[in-house]
Amino acid sequence: MPSTILIIGACGQIGSELTASLRAKHGNNHIIASDIREPNDQTLLKGPFEVLDATNIDAIEDVVVHYEVGEIYLMAAMLSATGEKFPMKAWNLNMNSLFNVLNLAKEGKIQKVFWPSSIAVFGPSTPQHSTPQTTVMEPTTVYGISKQTGERWCEYYHQKYGVDVRSIRYPGLISYKTLPGGGTTDYAIDIFHEALKNGHYECFLSEETELPMMYMDDAINATIQIMETAEANINVRSSYNLAAISFTPEEIAREIKEHLPEFSVSYAPDFRQAIADSWPSSIDDTAAQEDWGWSSTYDLKKMVQVMIEGLRSD
Ligand SMILES: NC(=O)c1ccc[n+]([C@@H]2O[C@H](COP(=O)([O-])OP(=O)(O)OC[C@H]3O[C@@H](n4cnc5c(N)ncnc54)[C@H](O)[C@@H]3O)[C@@H](O)[C@H]2O)c1
Repeated sequence: MPSTILIIGACGQIGSELTASLRAKHGNNHIIASDIREPNDQTLLKGPFEVLDATNIDAIEDVVVHYEVGEIYLMAAMLSATGEKFPMKAWNLNMNSLFNVLNLAKEGKIQKVFWPSSIAVFGPSTPQHSTPQTTVMEPTTVYGISKQTGERWCEYYHQKYGVDVRSIRYPGLISYKTLPGGGTTDYAIDIFHEALKNGHYECFLSEETELPMMYMDDAINATIQIMETAEANINVRSSYNLAAISFTPEEIAREIKEHLPEFSVSYAPDFRQAIADSWPSSIDDTAAQEDWGWSSTYDLKKMVQVMIEGLRSD
């Protein structure tokens, strides 16, 4: 059992499910959930919850001292689509929150950090298919630039100061329990809500746009797995590629139609198309498999079935 864990950004798409999983594993009182806003979801209040601004290092330190926190999972960030609307806000939040947590670790006030990166670190000059762990990275979004910069700083803090920071480049994450937070892959969640509510979805990406995706349970398992593995297994201190499923809007729509035959989709690409076009269509995650035993368990068929069943029973 690790010491107390603090999750920053716990009300978000990933943070809320991560909080629930870690609480189920370690007990409600060992996991401190926090966010800049109060939770809508009462399940986050099953254990300690603090309103906390990730850009305020003194406030984070107060919570760390109060709860004797040993590990922080930093999930607060501004995502790709919203980041393009507010570039400086995205940069300030994404970078300052990371520095705050890395500096607390550097000063020995916490022992371990999880910080998520993203496939957005890649850009149009990156090999698009089976993108390698180490490759050309010229991101074109402010979000991608912040994640790539964050990766360099994580590696730097590890090499220079011995900070035990661990990271994953998440693909687009799909879940039914929480709504997505303003990313380019949000269509793959919206499509289920609209299919069940209206029988029709207008997709903001074109039908043949293939992107790497993952069901949330796989992402949560990977996150807990990388944090629990022995320090010696972590050979990548920037961020690990992580892969599960790659599909296009047309392919996911076809799979949804297996359950809802009347479902139809139209396509009206907007500014998010250019972001999607700059990202890989599939990812090579051999390093994560070899170093800490990662493997995914959800394919497209299983994910679609679980999404539809989950939303129907909500
Ligand atoms: N969801 C995905 O598909 C995906 C893919 C790749 C990477 N990621 C990364 O995973 C992390 C979590 O993503 P998510 O999808 O859960 O995001 P989200 O937008 O759903 O959640 C982010 C949470 O951070 C909170 N927050 C915002 N500003 C804050 C501040 N100043 N202090 C404290 N909390 C603040 C928000 O209120 C929100 O609850 C982010 O770093 C994101 O870049 C997500």
